[in-house]
Amino acid sequence: MEVKEFCEKYAIDRRNTVSLKWDALDVRFGDPDLISMWVADMDFKTEEHIIEAIVKRAEHGVYGYSYVPDTYYNAVINWEKNHFNYDIKKEWIRVTPGIVAALYWFVNMFTKEQDSILILTPVYYPFHNCVKDNNRALITCDLNYDKGVFTIDFERFEQAIVDNDVKMYILCSPHNPAGRVWKEEELTRMLEICQKHNVLVISDEIHQDLTAAGKHQIPSAAVSNGKYASNVITCTSASKTFNLATCLTSSIIIQSDELRATYDAFKKRYIQLEDNVFGLAASEAAYTYGEEWRNSLLKVVEQNYQTLVDGLKEFPELYISPMEGTYLALLNLNSYIKKEETKAFIQDRCRIAVDFGEWFGANFKGFVRINLATQPEIVQKAVSNIATELRKIC
Ligand SMILES: Cc1ncc(COP(=O)(O)O)c(C=O)c1O
Repeated sequence: MEVKEFCEKYAIDRRNTVSLKWDALDVRFGDPDLISMWVADMDFKTEEHIIEAIVKRAEHGVYGYSYVPDTYYNAVINWEKNHFNYDIKKEWIRVTPGIVAALYWFVNMFTKEQDSILILTPVYYPFHNCVKDNNRALITCDLNYDKGVFTIDFERFEQAIVDNDVKMYILCSPHNPAGRVWKEEELTRMLEICQKHNVLVISDEIHQDLTAAGKHQIPSAAVSNGKYASNVITCTSASKTFNLATCLTSSIIIQSDELRATYDAFKKRYIQLEDNVFGLAASEAAYTYGEEWRNSLLKVVEQNYQTLVDGLKEFPELYISPMEGTYLALLNLNSYIKKEETKAFIQDRCRIAVDFGEWFGANFKGFVRINLATQPEIVQKAVSNIATELRKIC
């Protein structure tokens, strides 16, 4: 489906639907009339089979206790095989009510209070919170940054592990908000270092399906034919790809018998929880029927990214990170706007609600993250506002 057709079919006004993105602007940003481009969900209805699956379940009228059916497991297994050539077994999959919830569990399952946990900054803020909220030591290692492009300083990465006796590393792959889809050699080096120092890797791959043309996502557990898989816990979900965040259904893949036993024992003791029948039905339908919708969505995201880059190219030092993965573009305004004026510029003058760089890492003030999973007109308006305001300054 082309961009125009996709948008005509799926774009929708989300105001007055209890949408965090659109209806909580006043509470979150103190201004209800901003162009909302923060928080990572989309301004598109999901694919029809997914809606149908939810409606069918709802129409049955009984919402009693259930369980995870084989059809769900098979849908996840097939998706991983077909898209990433990653062979997984049903026994390795655990279903959780979202990935952030699971991150909080992992911190408690696999580390003790005061243990050190590493993240590569700038990174998705719940990675910081799940460590700090649980009295663990948050160890941050900044990515290298050069005119929009983020890379890993492996020496600093290893040093951070050694110096702090790190027990767990939470990897974001693809990386939000740096936009990187990690190359095989980058993943290999990170995984090698973690294995050498006995650091458990939590690989959050929620953005796995949202990759730009020509970029190839490799599951951490599949690197080097699974050489590191016993030291990796993989987090996947249909939620980011198909706009199902509140259906609260994710798949955690744990290959190691030992790690799975720890997970199961912890869950038995602390987490008594039923599965969400709507989330299971929606995710199964997404993995079974969603491919064409996903491909069309990626075209919209690509076009929006191009609009952003083209619309701001007269400002050569406004660095926009290459968006290899995710639908979240990272802009560095530092050459044009003083760090402490970023909010006044982007919010008050450009009228856009964004995620601010410092939410992702202390050294990234002056960066803003913009959500491009929206109608092209919204991106055009935002870009035009930024360009107009910058012209007044330059
Ligand atoms: C890297 C990453 N992990 C997890 C999430 C959210 O996961 P969930 O909604 O399943 O808790 C997001 C949402 O933006 C994300 O970017």
